[in-house]
Amino acid sequence: MQGIVCAKLNKNHGISEKWVPQCLSIDEQSALVDEIRQIATQAPLFVPKMPNTGKPMSIRMTNCGPLGWVTTKEDGYRYQETHPETGTPWPKIPQSLLNLWDKLTDYPKPPQACLVNFYEASAKMGLHQDKDEEVFDAPALSISLGDTCLFRIGGENRKDPTKSFKLQSGDVMLLTGKSRMAFHGVDKIYPGTSTLLKQDGRINLTLRRVTD
Ligand code: SIN
Ligand code: FE2
Repeated sequence: MQGIVCAKLNKNHGISEKWVPQCLSIDEQSALVDEIRQIATQAPLFVPKMPNTGKPMSIRMTNCGPLGWVTTKEDGYRYQETHPETGTPWPKIPQSLLNLWDKLTDYPKPPQACLVNFYEASAKMGLHQDKDEEVFDAPALSISLGDTCLFRIGGENRKDPTKSFKLQSGDVMLLTGKSRMAFHGVDKIYPGTSTLLKQDGRINLTLRRVTD
């Protein structure tokens, strides 16, 4: 599974995000899930907490890469080199994901963070912008595994109109150019729509560049 090879980017839905349905084959998806399981063994899933209120988010998450995105009541959203609970460095980003980044982006440097989000059947993610990075010229590359979700994307302002579409296991999304700062979120998971994972739910992997 050294080289995930995707079809060319073939959809553009107007806000310049690029959606590659079924970019990853079933075998590539299964191999990735195995690698993610290994990562979650070394860097256990944790529940991110909203800044200030400390309210738990409905997803559980971990990271791989030199930097990981974390959030706590006290210190808010940030990137750090170590797991917030174990204090150890994050595991490496799987080579197949680095290859995919090279294949689908023309960004000259590798991603520094890979967020691993696990959505149970009832989990969702409110509309938000990804803006905790120091640089925004690199695309964010996002991979869906497991159950289908209803993904929503708008513009650079929260009140801009949004559109929704279903992301399936193996789909890849690139937020690039103007869409890099687009508000986006996950409204709903459709449990039972994929047999990739052992249980209902969805994994989202997001590769990001954080510093210059
Ligand atoms: C995110 O915005 O961090 C995750 C998006 C997704 O789960 O597709
Ligand atoms: Fe996001």
